[in-house]
Amino acid sequence: MPAVLFRSPNDSSEAWRKSLSERVPGIDFRADPNIGDPADVEFALVWKVPAGYLKQFPNLKAICSLGQGVDHIFADPDLPRGPHIIRLVDPWMGRAMAEWVLLQVLRFHRQGPEYEDLQRRKEWKSLPAPETSTRRVGILGLGALGAEAATTVAALGFDVAGWSRTRKSIPNVTSYAGPDELDAFLARTDILCGLLPLTPETTDLMDAELFAKLPKGAFVVNSGRGAQLVEDDLLAALDSGHIAGASLDVFRTEPLPLDHPFWTHPRVQVWPHVSAQTNADSGADQVAENIRRVFAGEKPINEVDPDRQY
Ligand code: NAP
Ligand code: GLV
Repeated sequence: MPAVLFRSPNDSSEAWRKSLSERVPGIDFRADPNIGDPADVEFALVWKVPAGYLKQFPNLKAICSLGQGVDHIFADPDLPRGPHIIRLVDPWMGRAMAEWVLLQVLRFHRQGPEYEDLQRRKEWKSLPAPETSTRRVGILGLGALGAEAATTVAALGFDVAGWSRTRKSIPNVTSYAGPDELDAFLARTDILCGLLPLTPETTDLMDAELFAKLPKGAFVVNSGRGAQLVEDDLLAALDSGHIAGASLDVFRTEPLPLDHPFWTHPRVQVWPHVSAQTNADSGADQVAENIRRVFAGEKPINEVDPDRQY
């Protein structure tokens, strides 16, 4: 059997070796740096490998992301052309992300930051209670993760819309599509949640111009990718009061540098890229199936279109 290469700075090679060995009898699983002869490797299971790393495998048939995003693969200027590019689409991660987005929406909706300030000042004071059905939540990206987050938030009675490249039909979620409908989507959004893939089109999308199109007092949540958000523009919008608060799980540089102003900003909550973590148990069935398919010369599932880059 051809070899499966594993390399990730985040994920446990032993956990993946175990979960794949249970599903692919006789698997030749090689965790970097113990790769042996690179010519044996036909399937690469990777997360954030250095640029140029993958071109050393001359017989690669598939490159599989150890996450739902594939921007780390397309970032390689020497990415071999020809292998299938595959990603995880894991229902477990979909649920985790929906929980995280719901947590942020509820925190802002129920004035969490204001009550945390009051507690710090030992002030016993009630604020006017907000009405759920009038709180407008907007999800950027209605794919595997965005659609589940939107449905989950809508189930509690929020007024939910989503923005995507193509029109969607999701019960209780208003669909906005394409650049022409972005302004209308932003104008009706009190809590903006970013769940887009990082592509040339989405890089720097959340900038000063976009923040200005949100209603005054809107909140910004991002768990897509850090490079979609211009961090200085968000700081300026927070400091002017136009944006009332932000919850961020992804950053332009990760880990977030120790001197970054987000760490101590009173209106920013920092999460260390954990909203939907890769899970070697729930993710292994589809990876095992793709190893089987690729080695049999069949089309894999969850293949990414290299032209769209997501
Ligand atoms: P997906 O299924 O590929 O969905 C992507 C969505 O974004 C689709 O609805 C797509 O529109 C939309 N989109 C892409 N480019 C667009 C553009 N230029 N304009 C408007 N809409 C656009 O991806 P996913 O599985 O939901 O994951 C989304 C991202 O979440 C990943 O790429 C990754 O960056 C991030 N993520 C983060 C974490 C974390 O822990 N923070 C975990 C997993 C994933 P169409 O449907 O019309 O094509
Ligand atoms: C995590 O960020 C992922 O893309 O799965």
